[in-house]
Amino acid sequence: MGANDSQSADQGQIITIPRHVAIIMDGNGRWAKNRNSPRHVGHRAGVESVRTIVEACAKKGVQALTLFAFSSENWKRPKKEVGLLFDLFMIVLQRDIKRLKKNNVCLRVIGDKTAFPKKLQECIRMAEEKTAGNSGLVLQIAANYGGRWDITQAARKVAEKIKSGELQPGDITEATLNAELSFADLPDPDLFIRTGGEQRISNFVLWQLAYSEFYFSDRLWPDFDAAAFDLAIQAFSQRERRFGKTSEQIRTIKN
Ligand code: FPP
Repeated sequence: MGANDSQSADQGQIITIPRHVAIIMDGNGRWAKNRNSPRHVGHRAGVESVRTIVEACAKKGVQALTLFAFSSENWKRPKKEVGLLFDLFMIVLQRDIKRLKKNNVCLRVIGDKTAFPKKLQECIRMAEEKTAGNSGLVLQIAANYGGRWDITQAARKVAEKIKSGELQPGDITEATLNAELSFADLPDPDLFIRTGGEQRISNFVLWQLAYSEFYFSDRLWPDFDAAAFDLAIQAFSQRERRFGKTSEQIRTIKN
């Protein structure tokens, strides 16, 4: 199903709902600094925005939401901040299970989980297990994730298949590599959002953003509320996605 096939009427306007939204939740630290508070206060406030946007996506019928919670590069942050982020992550995983169930959300964590403390790995496993049967929104938390890491681990798997004779180098297509990436079973993100005023990908999803629409918001993540998300969806709705074709071809197909 294409993103255009899932439409909802909003104040008389036809809104196209993206199948998959990917978000870089930036600005927690600055939000806290603006309040003379330590950075972890911003991360805690950021959790409220996570809840708001997850519920908004579930309500709108978005198929998948991928949130960048901790990048492969975030290990470079002060040890204390990294530890507090892991604690927060564990608290949310334990406390929000009921809420996820209520909203029929299936939770997954993508990234190299092996580097996390054992306790956190166990919390992730439990949360994934408890929500695995939910058939609504797939909520992907990208943690210790990096787009380059994902492509590298996919290439390693393809190399293993070549080594075992299962595959010949000449057989490799885009689909071969795609199948080994972290979320091969989901559609590529239709809409990529970054909050906090910066306009970078920062080694988030790389391969699968090839044809995504980009939306940048100056709002700091804790201030990114349902209305701000609606604006992003409206902007997405107005984009013409051509996938290499001409505007005329797209209009002919639509009509
Ligand atoms: C970027 O803002 C934010 C992060 C690296 C962490 C995001 C974490 C949360 C929103 C809370 C936990 C999330 C889940 C899914 C449980 P920044 O700290 O780089 O902000 P700055 O650019 O203002 O310094």
